[in-house]
Amino acid sequence: MGATETSNPEATEPQRLNIQSLRPLSSFSYSGGRNEFRRLCQTIFAGGAPRFLRTDDNRLVVFRHADLRAMAVIPELGNVPSGVLAARAKAGADAGESFVGAAMVDVFANQFFFTNEPIHTPLRRMTLSQIGPKRMPELEGIARSCIRRILDETPRDARIDFVQDVAVKLTVSFWGELVGLTADEMAAMVTVVRAMSPAFSATLDVEELRAADKAFSTYRARIEGAAMRSLTAGGHPFVEGLAAELARIDLADDPDCAGIVPANVGAMLAGVLTDGFHTTAVAAVNAIWVLAREPDTLAEIRANPELLTAAIAEAWRLEPPALMFNSYAIGDIAYNGFLIPKGTGVLMMWGAGNHDPRAFPNPARFDLSRGGQGLTTFGGGAQICPGRHVAMMLTRALIEGLEAADLTVEPTDEADAWVEGHILSELRTFPVRLGPTPR
Ligand code: HEM
Repeated sequence: MGATETSNPEATEPQRLNIQSLRPLSSFSYSGGRNEFRRLCQTIFAGGAPRFLRTDDNRLVVFRHADLRAMAVIPELGNVPSGVLAARAKAGADAGESFVGAAMVDVFANQFFFTNEPIHTPLRRMTLSQIGPKRMPELEGIARSCIRRILDETPRDARIDFVQDVAVKLTVSFWGELVGLTADEMAAMVTVVRAMSPAFSATLDVEELRAADKAFSTYRARIEGAAMRSLTAGGHPFVEGLAAELARIDLADDPDCAGIVPANVGAMLAGVLTDGFHTTAVAAVNAIWVLAREPDTLAEIRANPELLTAAIAEAWRLEPPALMFNSYAIGDIAYNGFLIPKGTGVLMMWGAGNHDPRAFPNPARFDLSRGGQGLTTFGGGAQICPGRHVAMMLTRALIEGLEAADLTVEPTDEADAWVEGHILSELRTFPVRLGPTPR
């Protein structure tokens, strides 16, 4: 179907969008991951590509910047309910009472990423009361002391893996401190978080999923256990604040649409912090990977530190940590003269929005002067990522911490290890040396 065929502004009644007739994303040889994503964007934005695409299992694929932004604010475009997620996972894996992916689905079901109204708003609001902009100064203090400790322990002028030795250690120690993990639990958690990565696979390799499921099961037990222990012991305002607000929510579970209310604050934190532990480390690495290749920008930031936030945002535009996430039509959606029926799965390619040349001319170029308007890095509308303030604060504090320690990240000349087939744009390893900053 061509671009004009999916535009029907004259029609008085919206016409049902025939998703099966759309061109499949897989026909562009795209199965996920950063390198194929870059090639895909060059092709689909070169002209002549249809307005929308579909996945092989007939989810609608939205990839143009204008459509992503406009559809994000349609109230009927909601989150995938946890019951639908579980049904899809069961269908995609070996069916039965215990299926591959069960531990992951269990963790995700407790994340409000998989809820809709009336459960979504109270869970989102209580989370933002702990990790929204007002909390940043206090959280930044914790982040800075974690960063100092990690950089003190990291060898100089030796090959290290920035993913494992710095970024994941940072997210684990930051969230670990808030939740109340012990030092030993934090040390063990670094390996667990790394092993969770296949959960973001777009290709559903059963063996990979089995291993990731094991990691999710350990992760859930550790986070839930630590949070419940902290709640009993007291002195953990992050956990106690969330627990008090969770206790006030009196809503029935509705897995097929509204989702579930987490049974306790530990289950909720295990869910919500999946992206806190994993995706935020990916994001910090991507920002530093881009900026390490922009020495002039780094020098400019050194002279004008207020440019750092814009530089990170531009680095994430170029290398978006989240390439795509699933949404779901919780009611009929009328858009652009077409009807997208209730129950339709919608794949929002947020990363592609950042590479649409109509919004960002010459998109493959790092350009600090773009102004940061209209980025789709964190989604949009009522489901825009609530963790974006923390993700930016942690990445900024990490870069400032390196600067304060007079350290420059020097990538080695090894080939880049982008994980293929994933919905995230993630480096498996980022081999670097931390050397003195050239002056
Ligand atoms: C830089 C790292 C991160 C990136 C790139 C990212 C990206 C995104 C995106 C694109 C969405 C929108 C999904 C959609 O509507 O299709 C989203 C939603 C969400 N993110 Fe993040 N995220 C990051 C970090 C975090 C952190 C640190 C947390 C929690 C501590 C978090 C928790 C969530 C939750 C709960 C939602 C669902 C929001 C809702 O339904 O209201 N994310 N994220």
